[in-house]
Amino acid sequence: MAVVSTPVTLERALPAMDDAEVLRIRNDFPVLNQLVNGQPLVYLDSGATSQNPLSVIEAEQEFYEQRNAAVHRGAHHLAVEATEVFEDARQTVADFVGADYSEVIWTSNATEGLNLLSYAFSNAGLWAAQGRGDEGLSELALNPGDEIVVTEMEHHANLIPWQELAFRTGAALRYIPVDDAGSLRMDLAGGIIGSRTKVVAFTHASNVLGVINPVAELVGMARRAGALVVLDACQSAPHLALNVKELDVDFAVFSGHKMLAPTGIGVLYGKQELLDILPPFLTGGSMITTVTMERAEYLPAPQRFEAGTQRISQAVALAAAVNYLTETGLDRIHHWESELGQCMVAGLEAIPGIRVLGPAAGQDRIGLAAFDVEGVHAHDVGQFLDSKGIAVRVGHHCAQPLHRRLGLTATTRASAYLYNTTDDVDQFLDAVAGVRAYFRA
Ligand code: ALA
Repeated sequence: MAVVSTPVTLERALPAMDDAEVLRIRNDFPVLNQLVNGQPLVYLDSGATSQNPLSVIEAEQEFYEQRNAAVHRGAHHLAVEATEVFEDARQTVADFVGADYSEVIWTSNATEGLNLLSYAFSNAGLWAAQGRGDEGLSELALNPGDEIVVTEMEHHANLIPWQELAFRTGAALRYIPVDDAGSLRMDLAGGIIGSRTKVVAFTHASNVLGVINPVAELVGMARRAGALVVLDACQSAPHLALNVKELDVDFAVFSGHKMLAPTGIGVLYGKQELLDILPPFLTGGSMITTVTMERAEYLPAPQRFEAGTQRISQAVALAAAVNYLTETGLDRIHHWESELGQCMVAGLEAIPGIRVLGPAAGQDRIGLAAFDVEGVHAHDVGQFLDSKGIAVRVGHHCAQPLHRRLGLTATTRASAYLYNTTDDVDQFLDAVAGVRAYFRA
């Protein structure tokens, strides 16, 4: 299939990626080199979790073979080395997103980062009420009458923690709706984000619609309202160059496992001045200065938010993943995936009985496409594709409210990454074209 043109305009020092380069990249990913149901695996489920290149697998293995020790807790050789590589990893990830070193907090994943924030905001209220902590803390506390604003396209990780924060504090949860095409109703956003808004939390790129949200516009609205901005970068950090300072968000989260790293590691970015005053969520070892039987004093960020023994090998592996992405070039990856995404959407739109969610072909989107097949349940579609060795995600993709808004309970989603070729997309489209006939829909 010829690659359709994309509206993404990028300056790239290196030539654009092509299938030949992707086939070389693919050799770095052992798991992709296997047969599934007798067919070569076509992995199109990177939106759920990505695969690991050898350099990442080896970085984790090397840590366990040569350096394993608890960080920040020992004076012996291994402990010093482990601490060094752990903190070097933090610097690598900070550079990757344009943050300062101490603004990067390790979490298990983006979900934990968002829950951490939600509970830290609750604790801000409790502390402020007791006159504890920094004077500025009351600014971060939520009370009845305050509002938290999310969008209708959030996945559950960026919705439920805010629902729970609203329950705990008496604040109200509001949301910016999506239109039938799945774009945010920005015409309504200005009336929703207002003087009562304390927090605006939204996804950079939708895991269902593929749409890339207008961050600058939303940040501008939040700033005018005096609200804090939380960016869910789960589906953007792996795929496009991200600079949290340029975006001017207050907090951002992403998961390592969606960007070539292992599971169990994620990042919460926070502006230094906010992390300096925000109370911790988890408490325990490694995040304190002094402890008496009555109370404890806490270290500044990032340690303040990293209680207990950390995910050390995973952080080291995430740094290796970041190096892999940086060496390949995020702009080149984004451009390639956009092309694949456009191929997928254009190809799906051409198949009778298929409804693609999100922007139509030709409009900017990340490299994924969720779709409904008329008369065939998404789980059947997924099983049919699996029988041909094609891995996709089926269900509500942790975004039930969005599916409900679009009149669906489940869809099938194909999501590409830097190791997918145009041939993968062709095979996927050929298979989808046969679904309705196979199920006699
Ligand atoms: N991790 C979820 C996904 O697959 C939200 O998109």
